[in-house]
Amino acid sequence: MKIDSIDLGYRPVMLAPMEDVTDKAFRLLCRSFGASMVYSEFVSADALIRSVNRSLAKIAISDEERPVAVQIYGRDVASMVEAARMVEEQAHPDVIDLNFGCPVKKVAGKGAGSGMLKNVPLMLDITRAVVEAVSLPVTVKTRLGWDHENKIIVELAEQLQDCGIKALTIHGRTRSQMYTGEADWTLIGEVKNNPRMIIPIIGNGDVTTPQRAKECFDRYGVDGIMIGRASFGRPWIFREVRHYLDTGEEDTTLTTHAKLEILRDEIVKSVECSPKGELGGIIHIRRHLASSPLFKGIPDFRSTRIRMLRAETQDELFNILDEIERNFLTD
Ligand SMILES: Cc1cc2nc3c(=O)[nH]c(=O)nc-3n(C[C@H](O)[C@H](O)[C@H](O)COP(=O)(O)O)c2cc1C
Repeated sequence: MKIDSIDLGYRPVMLAPMEDVTDKAFRLLCRSFGASMVYSEFVSADALIRSVNRSLAKIAISDEERPVAVQIYGRDVASMVEAARMVEEQAHPDVIDLNFGCPVKKVAGKGAGSGMLKNVPLMLDITRAVVEAVSLPVTVKTRLGWDHENKIIVELAEQLQDCGIKALTIHGRTRSQMYTGEADWTLIGEVKNNPRMIIPIIGNGDVTTPQRAKECFDRYGVDGIMIGRASFGRPWIFREVRHYLDTGEEDTTLTTHAKLEILRDEIVKSVECSPKGELGGIIHIRRHLASSPLFKGIPDFRSTRIRMLRAETQDELFNILDEIERNFLTD
């Protein structure tokens, strides 16, 4: 699959953009486990233009994580164009992705993110204007539609393609669903199988196992898939999926101890990369760590999990992981 001239290989698997998750440290980690491409957290166009430090920090990327997309969101043509130009000039990512899918009230309620699904003409104006304003490839990530009665994605995909985007990511839910219910991949497949569509289609939603990843490729014909939540506390999922897609076999080479070591590394990197020092890095990482599938099935894990979520230093988290390793993990 190619996004413009960027060759992502056969059946690429991307790390989804996720606010407060996909910072540089996590993107690098996922790339090191074979994510074909990574996306920044979404960045507000308005905040970028106001040079809000936190937003500027979010668009800082490093060469080792390429190919990387910086994602922006906003609600009017002028600010999205200005922000896209800033991203191109200051961050030099490989791709600029436009977010027309965020469902949260503070974004969608103001007409940005998935709010654009209620104002398709504006969404298309923004897309067209950004494509014209920058020389980087522009892509879009969106949802099936606003609600069950308005699943407009098949027609919308054609319209977005006509604006000049180079790939389209579809999360198989409507805005009304937020993150509830199951992602519906049938409409994603319909978009892909529409003979008018020539740009790559990346499917997204509820891919949590290598087997499901393969099924999404096989059954819906998508060009790429994107994994979000299943990477929490499990950045090695990209290696598992890649291995399964390439060989049809499960990757059993990583022991539980090796995975724990990866989580320790994740803590160190999160602290190193945090613009807010140790506490900032720990606050960022502890939630993901606590939801790691590595700890599933450990008896009476609740109190350990709570301690993890309250930890404020790297040492505290390390001690908890050491304890888990000593008391519960066997291989
Ligand atoms: C904590 C969190 C933050 C997210 N932030 C973004 C974001 O900044 N931009 C975006 O396009 N989607 C965002 N999403 C949506 C994900 O990219 C993805 O579409 C969604 O989680 C479904 O994929 P999954 O089932 O693999 O997690 C976010 C999701 C979560 C859980």
